[in-house]
Amino acid sequence: MTTVVVIVAAGSGTRLGSNQPKAFVALAGATLLEQCVRGVRSWSRPFSLVVVVPPGWETPARQLLAVYGDVTVVTGGETRTDSVRAGLGALPGGTTAVLIHDAARALTPVAVFDRVLDALKSGAEGVVPQIAVVDTLISVDRSSMATGDAMDRSALGAVQTPQGFHAASLIAAYEAIEGDFTDDAAVLRAAGHEVVAVDGDAMSFKITYPADLQRAVSVLGGTGGHRVGTAVDVHQFDPGVPLTLAGLAWPGEDGLAGHSDGDVVIHAIVDALLQAAGMGDLGTHFGANRPEFEGANSRVFLAHALNLIRDAGYAVSSVGVQVIAQKPKIGPRRLEAETVLTELVGCPVALSATTSDGLGFTGRGEGAAALATAVLVVI
Ligand code: CTP
Ligand code: MG
Repeated sequence: MTTVVVIVAAGSGTRLGSNQPKAFVALAGATLLEQCVRGVRSWSRPFSLVVVVPPGWETPARQLLAVYGDVTVVTGGETRTDSVRAGLGALPGGTTAVLIHDAARALTPVAVFDRVLDALKSGAEGVVPQIAVVDTLISVDRSSMATGDAMDRSALGAVQTPQGFHAASLIAAYEAIEGDFTDDAAVLRAAGHEVVAVDGDAMSFKITYPADLQRAVSVLGGTGGHRVGTAVDVHQFDPGVPLTLAGLAWPGEDGLAGHSDGDVVIHAIVDALLQAAGMGDLGTHFGANRPEFEGANSRVFLAHALNLIRDAGYAVSSVGVQVIAQKPKIGPRRLEAETVLTELVGCPVALSATTSDGLGFTGRGEGAAALATAVLVVI
């Protein structure tokens, strides 16, 4: 069979929340697209490669992929369906087998490509890799949140890519359909063809959310480099406002003054993260010259800082924070706070607390301080 792999990489990566398209975010010393192409290029079977990128990203893609042999770069569309169509339009004459692969599944082992192509060679018209579903599946009514009985998991599979097809059948199927389809197998089925499944692989997970990117970084080991940042934040107690500390509400406790929610723990974390990345501090990014952040919740600062850091090619590896204050007592809520902070930062956050033995402004109960250390991995 004359095989072509089409990698669709034209999505924007909205759920990843990065400033550039998902295919161009940093991943272990390269871009996600390069990591994906590097993996696919290690496949031992003969094939040619078409890569579909967002409009305007053709030249950077060609430059980045120049070291990976002959790659045809074409412009994608608004939806994945449009992008696949664009890829199919670039198939060289004589193509008999086409494998459509999501760039977002950058760590797919080549063994999956083998299984898909072998199934096509055995006569299948369409092939999808699938893996067993491990969680119990129920129906949920999104308005009432009422749930239904669990479905029979043994009869269900989670679909991955690459999905393989007889080229002529897939092209004809795409010509016959209108509207959007979630994947290519659905297009082929809509045209009345049967699609068979082969085993996928857990490493073929789709990089969708920041936590997925983090997982991919740990699988690839990053570049091995680390950066460390340390920061202190201090706020004065103000009995007139509610207390927000370590991402938690503390009913009945005196609040902390400040033009945001005064959460010294999150502020210290943000400052430490920015410092570790060599990107200045809170004042640099959220100061008086940035009115859009005036009075913003500390979580907004954190989310923005995490985006900046990721765009600069770092992933947060771990964070430690110590609260220095006479009150409130952190101990009873430490685990709760760590859970919230870990979720917010997307990596383990450890929290501890101390009083200052009655000394200084914290000892007199005038204010609270937090000292944070952040470790970043260069990705
Ligand atoms: N894709 C594409 N063209 C589009 C939309 C998606 O080529 N218009 C590709 C993506 O680049 C990705 C694959 O289809 O490799 C699966 O899409 P998804 O994981 O949803 O990526 P994005 O659409 O980029 O992410 P999001 O939905 O979060 O915006
Ligand atoms: Mg999408």
